[in-house]
Amino acid sequence: MAFKGKVALITGGGSGMGQTAARLLAQQGAQVAIFDVNQEGMAKTAEGLDNIKAYSVDISDTDAVHAAVRQVEADLGPIDRVANAAAIMPFGKLLEQDPKIQIKLMDINYGGLVNIATATVPGMVQRGSGDFISFSSMSGIIPGLLMGGYCATKGAVQMYTEILYHENRDSGVRFCCVCPPPVATPLWNQARDTVVPKLTEASEAISPEEVLSDVEECLEKGKFVSYPGKQTRIGALMRRIAPNYLWNYAHKAEGF
Ligand SMILES: NC(=O)c1ccc[n+]([C@@H]2O[C@H](COP(=O)([O-])OP(=O)(O)OC[C@H]3O[C@@H](n4cnc5c(N)ncnc54)[C@H](O)[C@@H]3O)[C@@H](O)[C@H]2O)c1
Repeated sequence: MAFKGKVALITGGGSGMGQTAARLLAQQGAQVAIFDVNQEGMAKTAEGLDNIKAYSVDISDTDAVHAAVRQVEADLGPIDRVANAAAIMPFGKLLEQDPKIQIKLMDINYGGLVNIATATVPGMVQRGSGDFISFSSMSGIIPGLLMGGYCATKGAVQMYTEILYHENRDSGVRFCCVCPPPVATPLWNQARDTVVPKLTEASEAISPEEVLSDVEECLEKGKFVSYPGKQTRIGALMRRIAPNYLWNYAHKAEGF
């Protein structure tokens, strides 16, 4: 999709992949709305680009998200592309991590997707065009020790997005569920503040640009799932054909 003159809405636009996506689209001439709770990050995203407009929105707040989407449409016009990148990633052993944090993870990572999808996809379906990009993760495919709360949210994101796609597959809207491996973004600071599984330490992070370029390719080719990076495609295949091998590997790496 050529983006000059189009309208894009990026959640989590104050950091990492959301920030990179917002700036890339704005540099291509799109009008870009960003949602985040990180005001400082959003100001950095918009630096030098007056076609990026920041909205302070908590993605887990249904009414706030729906109201902010209506405001974006009033300010910029109908939305042509949505990318839902907002998320948190504290880690911990399931029975040791605060249950309130585990539920907050679901509210933001999964509830946020429900909120943004229900606020934006009906309009796209009605217009018969648009792109909806949903950020899952390799952690939504391969379960990992010490990251159960986060993995559960990304599994839910994947299932929701796949059904959303199939329920609207003849609508003219393009859907992409992206499942990145570790990516070099500030999200990892949250894991470092909690606990870092040894397996994730061993894998090399790819760049936000590599992820976003794979997403574009998937949208162009009409592929629903994006697996950026070679290790991701191999991982997805291994999960299907040899799940026990992966579990044994994880137990050996963590030492329990
Ligand atoms: N970085 C990785 O290794 C990696 C790997 C796989 C998938 N992902 C997924 O990609 C997406 C983008 O991740 P990233 O690495 O760019 O993360 P990031 O931490 O750099 O950016 C996430 C943004 O979401 C915002 N956010 C958090 N809670 C929010 C809330 N309640 N309301 C609104 N905004 C909120 C944060 O303030 C932050 O600006 C996420 O969905 C993440 O789960 C990341």
